[in-house]
Amino acid sequence: MASATPPPGTSDIFPAESWRWRRLERTAAEIFGRYGYGELRTPIFEYTEVFQRGLGGETEVVQKEMYTFEDRGGRSLTLRPEGTAGVMRALLNTDVLNGVEQRVFYYGPMFRGERPAAGRKRQFHQVGVENVGRVAPELDAECIAMLMHFLEALGITGAELRINSRGVMADRGPAGELLRGYFRQHLDAMCPDCRVRFEHNLWRILDCKQPGCRAIVAGAPDYFHAYSAESQRYFEQVLRALDALGVPYRVDRELVRGLDYYVHTVFEIVHTAGLGAQNAIAGGGRYELLLPEQSRPVQGVGFAAGIERLLLTQDALGAAGEPEKGKLVFLASLGEAARMENLKLAADLRRAGFTVALEVEDKSMKAQLRTANRLGAAVVLIRGDQEIASGVAAVKPMDGGEQREIALADVKDFLSQTLA
Ligand code: HAM
Repeated sequence: MASATPPPGTSDIFPAESWRWRRLERTAAEIFGRYGYGELRTPIFEYTEVFQRGLGGETEVVQKEMYTFEDRGGRSLTLRPEGTAGVMRALLNTDVLNGVEQRVFYYGPMFRGERPAAGRKRQFHQVGVENVGRVAPELDAECIAMLMHFLEALGITGAELRINSRGVMADRGPAGELLRGYFRQHLDAMCPDCRVRFEHNLWRILDCKQPGCRAIVAGAPDYFHAYSAESQRYFEQVLRALDALGVPYRVDRELVRGLDYYVHTVFEIVHTAGLGAQNAIAGGGRYELLLPEQSRPVQGVGFAAGIERLLLTQDALGAAGEPEKGKLVFLASLGEAARMENLKLAADLRRAGFTVALEVEDKSMKAQLRTANRLGAAVVLIRGDQEIASGVAAVKPMDGGEQREIALADVKDFLSQTLA
């Protein structure tokens, strides 16, 4: 359907906003660069299998939210719903399988067929990082501390870090049985979704938002102590490293996260300012992914933050900042010959680094000055036949200063001085 409105859950980002995106991306590259991360750009679509295998067939994202299509060659492809699986696929082409650590960051659009709401879109954007190939609690803590550093650089204060451990796959059996035994006694009082989860996705009951289920979850047994001693130690070491780094956190045993690939550490950053129900601005953890045709899984740790949600939080905190504006020079022309000369002068000044606007139609001086004013010009240069003939320009500072004449040859020096 041809319409001026983009499809539901998508947005146009106009220049009045896009400068904020660029600044945020620059801040990310700058901060993550200090920790040794380089940018990786992967395709926006991948073979569907990459996500099915990578994220887990039982996850809501894979079952209900993926934009999957067949291309002309009969391949099943999917618009990426998240970044980790594609990054992992790409890194298999490096020596990560030989235990050589890779540190990459990325930003760009992700696609999930969710019900659009404030802060929840179908095409949304993430900035994320992955540290792949090595396993150490200190790496998990450093990754979290880097996320907090990034938020601080964006002026986002007051965010809460929630953290938990998913243990390793072998811990899920004993810990899961403990939970299953408890939830079985309360099945009748649970919401219909949780009754399905009980069969297929037991752990997700822990983060159900229904008040009835939340009350049941509040009484659930402490499954963390059913993990192996090694998994418990790993998590405690992460917390110790966070303490050493001065990063505050809240251990939250109800935090399981929606993707199946997590092991050990999982975390989420929530912020109550400006976001309503969609209050997770970032999430991540340690994960283990097995992609098609790969013989053994590889571990990494990383996170992704929703760019739209970061911007909304900045708005609510009054931390949006101001765009950097080049000071504008406006060229006003009297007559056709002057217009042509000003077209050339504009090109010359722009090459020399100035920001220039000019009127290209035959307009009165009053109309041209009105335009200069509307565009916020700092200086107007006025030329007509007379100024062209004598090689000068009339200079009108827009701050109310006196109009005067300067030689064309001196214009660049003059502008450099007055606009500095
Ligand atoms: P995720 O929690 O699914 O994790 O998404 C990360 C962030 O993306 C969320 O905290 C939220 O800010 C944003 N987000 C997710 N869905 C939407 C949506 N529909 N609209 C707007 N924003 C959204 C991941 O994607 C993992 N790949 C993170 C990760 C990286 N784990 C390890 N490495």
